[in-house]
Amino acid sequence: VTLSRRSLPIFPFRDELVAAVNQHQVLVIEGETGSGKTTQIPQYLHEEGYTRGGMKIGVTQPRRVAAMSVAARVAVEMGTKLGNEVGYSIRFEDCTSERTVLKYMTDGMLLREFLTEPDLASYSVIMIDEAHERTLHTDVLFGLIKDIARFRPHLKVLVASATLDTERFSAFFDNAPVFRIPGRRFPVDIYYTKAPEADYLEACVVSVLQIHVTQPPGDILVFLTGQEEIEACVELLQERCRRLGSRLPELLVLPIYANLPSELQARIFEPTPPGARKVVVATNIAETSVTIDGIVYVLDPGFCKQKSYSARTGMESLVVTPCSRASANQRAGRAGRVAPGKCFRLYTAWAFQHELEETPVPEIQRADLGSLVLLLKSLGINDLIHFDFLDPPPHETLVLALEQLYALGALNHLGELTTLGRRMAELPVEPMLAKMILASEQYGCTEEVLTVAAMLSVNNAVFYRPKDKVLHADSARVAFGVPGGDHLVLLNVYNQSLPIHPSPSQSIPVHPSALPVTLSPLLSPQAITAGFFYHTARLSRGGYRTVKHQQPVFIHPNSALFNLQPRWVLYHELVCTSKEFMRQVGTWGHLGDILGTPWGRGDTGPGCGRGMVWVWGHTGGSTTSWCAPPRSS
Ligand code: CDP
Ligand code: MG
Repeated sequence: VTLSRRSLPIFPFRDELVAAVNQHQVLVIEGETGSGKTTQIPQYLHEEGYTRGGMKIGVTQPRRVAAMSVAARVAVEMGTKLGNEVGYSIRFEDCTSERTVLKYMTDGMLLREFLTEPDLASYSVIMIDEAHERTLHTDVLFGLIKDIARFRPHLKVLVASATLDTERFSAFFDNAPVFRIPGRRFPVDIYYTKAPEADYLEACVVSVLQIHVTQPPGDILVFLTGQEEIEACVELLQERCRRLGSRLPELLVLPIYANLPSELQARIFEPTPPGARKVVVATNIAETSVTIDGIVYVLDPGFCKQKSYSARTGMESLVVTPCSRASANQRAGRAGRVAPGKCFRLYTAWAFQHELEETPVPEIQRADLGSLVLLLKSLGINDLIHFDFLDPPPHETLVLALEQLYALGALNHLGELTTLGRRMAELPVEPMLAKMILASEQYGCTEEVLTVAAMLSVNNAVFYRPKDKVLHADSARVAFGVPGGDHLVLLNVYNQSLPIHPSPSQSIPVHPSALPVTLSPLLSPQAITAGFFYHTARLSRGGYRTVKHQQPVFIHPNSALFNLQPRWVLYHELVCTSKEFMRQVGTWGHLGDILGTPWGRGDTGPGCGRGMVWVWGHTGGSTTSWCAPPRSS
């Protein structure tokens, strides 16, 4: 381990780097992926006494996988058990202890730490890592940390980035010095296609096999956009290899994406057996956050999945978009870490020059800002327009977030946080879900609502639908069907998966939630509506339209309500694939009534703050739904 630590590109610069940290409060560090920034710098500073007295070095990562895997690696290098001196913290999982001094965490987790420790007093060093990714949370951390650094002169701030946009970070932090770690990269030859590829997935499969058959040894890395595409590609590759049989040397096909269980993720790091070749099919997670040794060939179709947000319709969607030139170059670089490499771009040289953006658009400019605004408000930052953003979010998005929080009752008409808003901010979930959970108290169904909230938060991973067992999977799902739609189905699945026989030590033999859902009508539609009244749609002759924006939408074919098409529905989320699909759809006999009932003056209706009335519906089906001050009589 010591040997491999010493062989990293960063090692010869150890003392120089430590001296620079000692001398400057803020340091921007630029170094290619794999040079040792994430794993080594925190250890160097630990060795130099920065953790004396139990002070912590915090390192943020945009991705959960990276936080976990890097912490595990550093624990090995330091010869300690993960969770002792070295730990990680990601949402819903805290693997740290009193002894933890090197703490890897997602950028979102550090942001939440401001709620309990606004000056981050227990940290001596904060390293904002993978800064070039410009995630929403990282961008906000820039502003917050710049602020606390002013009154905590001994706090050290490191901003680490893999690419060359460090000048901007330096300028933002009052011209902080930039420390460059020279890369040790082998040359990478870049090849383009002559004409655009119509089907890049098929092109990938064919190219992988061509490389495998014609090229000298070396592993292959393929960049695709998401789980479904990756699974399809892995399946196609395995099938073609099977068909070609013994005529081919062994090809190990391994996927990696954020939702892949961690045991399976670990497989990509295992060395390739002699005589075989490994192909790793990855999302852009493999661009910078994880490093796989042995890659010599990179296949880049030139796409990535990006969140986009329309302030006009309030709809967030994930869309496949061309990646940026910076990403493409980063991808190519992955081929030259161990030997001279080759990168095959499945697009034309013309497209690279003319169709790709220079750098990706920062997430803050294409995301829903509801959670963020709520968090900033609860940190006492009221003037969001003048917050020190590296790149400010679009004005309309900010306004829409404020409006939604107002409608949910989290802000008052002056834009100040309400008591409800404060409680919502404390829950690490998006505002609508938080409101639903808190509203459940009033309706006496907190247990049920928490279950539903948890089941809704697992990214549709409750029902597994493998391609070769579609019929089985679908009929299994139907077996969980209950009237009312997907929320109740999820509750039912959860309840049925609880142990039927309570353990003997339990003094209360039957838990109410263990009853089948039909006997437990406790889940109050009002509680769900209180959080999700924005997400409602009504069936008219032309199909469903959302109540708020009159946007045409469709029930997702996997929904329990797909064939029923009830007049009123409430959905958890909209996903935009071939159409705008509502996912996790519920209805209740009286949903229309709940939505249509005017709430008395001064009442707290679904989604309304105190003193507001919900004005939609009682105007005879008019489609404005809004919380408004009561009409004066
Ligand atoms: O942060 P940066 O990309 O500069 O490098 P790093 O993440 O510190 O990784 C340095 C080296 O540690 C990599 O080249 C890998 O060989 C190794 N590493 C590993 O084996 N397992 C990990 N989970 C992370 C890094
Ligand atoms: Mg790193």
